[in-house]
Amino acid sequence: MSQGYFGAFGGAFIPEILHQTFAELTAAYEAARADADFWSEYLTVMENYSGRPTPLTYAENLSAAFGGRRIYIKREDLNQTGAHKANNVMGQGLLVKRMGKSRVIAETGAGQHGVATATMAARLGLECTIYMGAKDVARQRPNVFWMEQLGATVIPVTSGDQTLKDAVNEAMRDWVGSMDGTHYVLGTACGAHPFPEMVSWFQSVIGSEARGQILKQAGRLPDRVYACVGGGSNAMGIFQGFLDAPDVELIGVEAGGLGLATGLHAARLASADAEVGIAQGYKTYFLQDDDGQMKTTHSVAAGLDYVGVSPILANLHETGRARFIAATDAEVVEALKRLMKAEGIIGALESSHAVAGALRELPDTPEDTVILINLSGRGDKDIFTIADALHDPKWEAFIQEKADQYAKRANNPGDAS
Ligand SMILES: Cc1ncc(COP(=O)(O)O)c(C=O)c1O
Repeated sequence: MSQGYFGAFGGAFIPEILHQTFAELTAAYEAARADADFWSEYLTVMENYSGRPTPLTYAENLSAAFGGRRIYIKREDLNQTGAHKANNVMGQGLLVKRMGKSRVIAETGAGQHGVATATMAARLGLECTIYMGAKDVARQRPNVFWMEQLGATVIPVTSGDQTLKDAVNEAMRDWVGSMDGTHYVLGTACGAHPFPEMVSWFQSVIGSEARGQILKQAGRLPDRVYACVGGGSNAMGIFQGFLDAPDVELIGVEAGGLGLATGLHAARLASADAEVGIAQGYKTYFLQDDDGQMKTTHSVAAGLDYVGVSPILANLHETGRARFIAATDAEVVEALKRLMKAEGIIGALESSHAVAGALRELPDTPEDTVILINLSGRGDKDIFTIADALHDPKWEAFIQEKADQYAKRANNPGDAS
């Protein structure tokens, strides 16, 4: 199989003009991968800047509620900027420095990858532009606020559905015109080679830590590992720690949205609605219609509503090494509430898909089952969406009051109250 393929999936379907840039990137990535000093520099930065290793938390109360089945949670929410995205961006940032480039661009859905990239760019002294679907800009304003405060330029993309896939197209367009000094920090394990492999490599830190931690805490490998799947980077991150252990079942949880039967979801591997195709530089399962046009996706979690999926996960699906299920928006909100109340952990809506999938399946497992859930991020950024879903009247009154205050200030610019 040629380079960059995982079974029938992957490859590098890129415009001629980007060939040289991809060749340079692949060479830089391969050299870094062969250089033990690079990985140890990466681990040191992640330890001293991002808070790695992230803990593994035994979910004592939830476990008790499931008859003593043991639930462990890998706390990627405790990374700098609140998600696993920090691992990938810092890795690529160190690579950008090695390549001598001075500007980075990125696309973002939930905004988590954008904030992480803007943070990395600020720290490493790089110019930064972030493309974001206009719809995502509207629903993830807190993250847009942080990106701008960190010094990044955020460009709302108004084409198409105004979500992640449109942001990816715009970022690509920028790159074609700016590749000499610019690196495109792809946020997930998708896109043309070497991105799926490179992003998975940076995220493998999750799996290698988790494997050692669960062996120490549970005394054995888990029976099952659950991770949510947008593009697939946090899933690939944790799965890699257990790929060589055939008895460990790997389960990816996709966005079931309003339910698979409604068509309003983003389940590429867990539904029959996706087809294998080539788009955005690589071959994988895409939610597309008979003419190859991308379908509209839906999820309560902005970071999961992407139309494609990592070619590496597509291959794990095809070979049966990983299993894919979907959790609906309603199940996810319930799972998040349960996680908060039982364990005092505020997970991101994306990550709560993994929790929802795990909790749904847990009653059907033997009583001595050990499961590991990758909690990819924290939920602070989702406060508006979650408060909407929960219809919290006190929150609504607070927002109303804030809105009144801003309106008053706009009418009386001299009034600083
Ligand atoms: C917290 C969180 N989890 C998961 C995802 C999905 O991405 P991936 O599948 O690459 O891990 C995102 C994407 O923005 C995210 O913000």
